[in-house]
Amino acid sequence: MENLVIISNEKAYGLAKNLSRYLNVESAVVEQRVFPDGEIYLRIPIDVKHKTSVLLWSIKGDINNDVLSLMLALDATWELGAERILSVIPYMPYARQDSRFKDGEAVSIVTLSKIFRFLTADYIITVDMHLHRIEEPRIIFGDRFVNISGIESIASYISNRTFERGETVVVGPDEESIQWASRLGDLLKIPWMVLEKERHTAEDVEVKVKESLPIEVKRAIIIDDIISTGGTIESTVKLLKSIGIPDIYVYCVHPVLSPTSLYRLESLKLSDLACTNTLPSPISYIDISRTIGDAIKRIL
Ligand code: R5P
Repeated sequence: MENLVIISNEKAYGLAKNLSRYLNVESAVVEQRVFPDGEIYLRIPIDVKHKTSVLLWSIKGDINNDVLSLMLALDATWELGAERILSVIPYMPYARQDSRFKDGEAVSIVTLSKIFRFLTADYIITVDMHLHRIEEPRIIFGDRFVNISGIESIASYISNRTFERGETVVVGPDEESIQWASRLGDLLKIPWMVLEKERHTAEDVEVKVKESLPIEVKRAIIIDDIISTGGTIESTVKLLKSIGIPDIYVYCVHPVLSPTSLYRLESLKLSDLACTNTLPSPISYIDISRTIGDAIKRIL
């Protein structure tokens, strides 16, 4: 693709490399460091003048730092003469604070959408944005917002493995996961179902079965958009094991993975555990660069 460059943050390095190979374009990581007083220094290391610039940012861990560095990069890229900018934010942070749950709270995702709309001007691409109280993200991000899905990449990762499809069910841990469970079930041609979830605290989650499972089920593929504390997955796995399903596979789009989550998941003796590389992590085995690349091709 002519006249296109990819600029990423360090956390999106691997994804940016795969994307640059797929689109056959140059990529570079921004130069970034912290001044002694805590301020961010950022430099765009390649020529962006008159070019379409893809700014690919994985936002994880020190989220606020990543958000600010993306803002600096966006503005600098404009100032340096880019013709247009596509912001690719594979994991959209703050999407779970999508309402004023208590008087006086900031509705963080709305604030973020205003900042990104102001600085991006062209398209914003994200992957499986967590949508709960806001059902249509274009209401806050504008019409040039593209929400693509990682489920096709997950389905093809599963299909490439030797996998016994009989006696298997795809399970979504809560009602919101119906979109991912149904899509994955359809792609794999496996029956699917969703459970009911109640969150007591950030870490403590209770999952219940809504409808009875077919008696012959021996294997479950759990699918969710985010693993953060691992509480949802832990509770779902324990429930499925308690009703006699020994063989459990877990897949998710965004490995947010708060500090103790991997220990929690390791103790569950899963048959497989993998997420996409929207965020870097020890379990980001599923490459999503083609899905992002195809979305970019459709836009340009
Ligand atoms: C919530 O509704 C999401 O779809 C995920 O189920 C949730 O964010 C996972 O969080 P945790 O790993 O902390 O249970």
